[in-house]
Amino acid sequence: MGRAAASILDQAYRVAVEAALEAGRILRWHFQRGLEIRHKGEIDLVTEADLASERAVLSRIQSTFPEHAVLAEESGEAARASPWLWVVDPLDGTTNFAHGFHVFAVSIALLQEGQRMLGVVYDVMRDELFTARRGEGAFLNGRPIRVSRTPRLAEALLVTGFPYDRQESPLDNTREFVTLLKHCHGVLRVGSAALDLASVAAGRLDGYWEFRLSPWDLAAGALLVEEAGGHVTTPQGDPLPSLGTDIVATNGLIHKELLELLASCRMAAPEGRNP
Ligand code: IPD
Ligand code: CA
Ligand code: CA
Repeated sequence: MGRAAASILDQAYRVAVEAALEAGRILRWHFQRGLEIRHKGEIDLVTEADLASERAVLSRIQSTFPEHAVLAEESGEAARASPWLWVVDPLDGTTNFAHGFHVFAVSIALLQEGQRMLGVVYDVMRDELFTARRGEGAFLNGRPIRVSRTPRLAEALLVTGFPYDRQESPLDNTREFVTLLKHCHGVLRVGSAALDLASVAAGRLDGYWEFRLSPWDLAAGALLVEEAGGHVTTPQGDPLPSLGTDIVATNGLIHKELLELLASCRMAAPEGRNP
């Protein structure tokens, strides 16, 4: 890597961390206020919190890197030709947040020429900051993290998620969920793709799969898992594209077994099957 790119990445790392913490403060404030409002019989602060969080992240990024491109969930893609692309989810775990359940995160990634270079996931209510830079390892609150050593799927604790349109679409991940449930210690559904991936990176969970996500759900988390020594692919076992949306991420040791079981589900559902 050239010196110019290295210095951009150093600066970008600081910006991403500051942005995630700032967005976290905003989300925490809305979350706590939301609980008060809910007690009085009120409702939906999610959009407001989402937007405020995204504004905070984008204003930090754009004031330091006005020439960089940005793909952010709420505002879409800035049509700007740049080798650098920021991929931002200002609130991952919206449903949890809306229900007053404390598991949600901010996710920020930076890609260079399509390659994931930097990833930050902030677990707001646990104040856990997961960070990774390509080639430099993954960290939780500054301490190195590694994926688990669980050797076999039969001993693994997995996590997955279900698409928003599962009530209408046959591509609902239920066949896969039930199949995997019978082959391991358990399959969680936490409700934040970014935290699912961070948990695999930290060795708290052994593997994760999900279909039809958006690039901002997983860009930062995928780098966390890779840098923590894990393995990340598509469900077919191919390298994850830079803006991939279907993902299998594991400690590496159980990857093949997980891919095989997912493939068996595809075979069993020739129509309306998941990727
Ligand atoms: C969602 C979460 C969830 C996953 C959904 C995502 P959002 O993101 O990551 O875990 O299952 O597919 O859309 O809407 O909370 O930002
Ligand atoms: Ca998301
Ligand atoms: Ca979101």
